[in-house]
Amino acid sequence: MHLIETKHLSYSYRDGVRALDDVSFVAPRNVKIAVIGPNGAGKSTLFRHLNGILLAREGQVLVRGEPVTRRNLREVRKFVGVVFQNPDDQIFAPTVEQDVAFGPTNLGLDEATVMHRVDEALGLLGIEHLRARPPHHLSGGEKKRVAIAGVLAMEPGVLVMDEPTAGLDPRGRDDLIGFVNELSRGFGMTVVLSTHELDLVTEFADYVYVMDRGAVLAQGTPGEVFEQEEMLRRARLDLPVLSKLCRSLREQGADLPVSYTFDEVERNLAVALHLRREP
Ligand SMILES: Nc1ncnc2c1ncn2[C@@H]1O[C@H](COP(=O)(O)OP(=O)(O)OP(=O)(O)O)[C@@H](O)[C@H]1O
Ligand SMILES: [Mg+2]
Repeated sequence: MHLIETKHLSYSYRDGVRALDDVSFVAPRNVKIAVIGPNGAGKSTLFRHLNGILLAREGQVLVRGEPVTRRNLREVRKFVGVVFQNPDDQIFAPTVEQDVAFGPTNLGLDEATVMHRVDEALGLLGIEHLRARPPHHLSGGEKKRVAIAGVLAMEPGVLVMDEPTAGLDPRGRDDLIGFVNELSRGFGMTVVLSTHELDLVTEFADYVYVMDRGAVLAQGTPGEVFEQEEMLRRARLDLPVLSKLCRSLREQGADLPVSYTFDEVERNLAVALHLRREP
């Protein structure tokens, strides 16, 4: 049984925009998934279904094998934490601390446990110093971190983040990826995120879904997906910069496999340049 699964999920907004078209998506245990695709592809609409912000009308959304309905929304939201694309949709308390405490308090936890979770979440996101600040006066990247901390403090079984790195500075982005990898390694957490940064996908994801016009155009490991140049062109996506470099050098005659992560490319290049012997 998968933690989250959508089966033939389609969705049209009231004004008739068909935002999802027969999407079958699975999030198994302890897998890091990236959802990529151009603007308007349907990524956020899919994510809104994963914790019942939108309820399936055509097709199904299953969380731990159970269809998401009005009746089990509370349980579903406890288990699937979604960080929205726009932090302003998520942040509303007068201080950062109160904001992050809101979710766990609502779960009915006692005050000491809530405070413990707040401390932990603020620590993980490196924003303890913002604790007493009103969230609405924070910078975009700071708000983003507060929104993530708020969801994390609920200790969800699955963490879903809609473009979590948009608006983060390079250090913030690296910290985020580091901390997501930590959640995955340390706690076996399943993480689903959407992004426009393809370089991030190769660093982060075990598995990738490519969406375009509401449909899943391709899925597989980063290697399998970034191999399909024609499909990527159709989806108006580029290649990660490292694989572009490998391809270009290969075309010029270099004996270099096309790889995707920094470590792999560095290793292969070092061998090709005779700086190192074995691959
Ligand atoms: N609340 C809404 N009402 C009507 N149409 C919407 C609404 N939200 C999204 N849409 C439309 O649904 C389609 C999918 O939008 P969605 O926000 O899911 O795309 P996305 O892949 O998240 O894009 P982006 O990369 O820009 O965040 C688009 O055509 C969009 O205009
Ligand atoms: Mg979106």
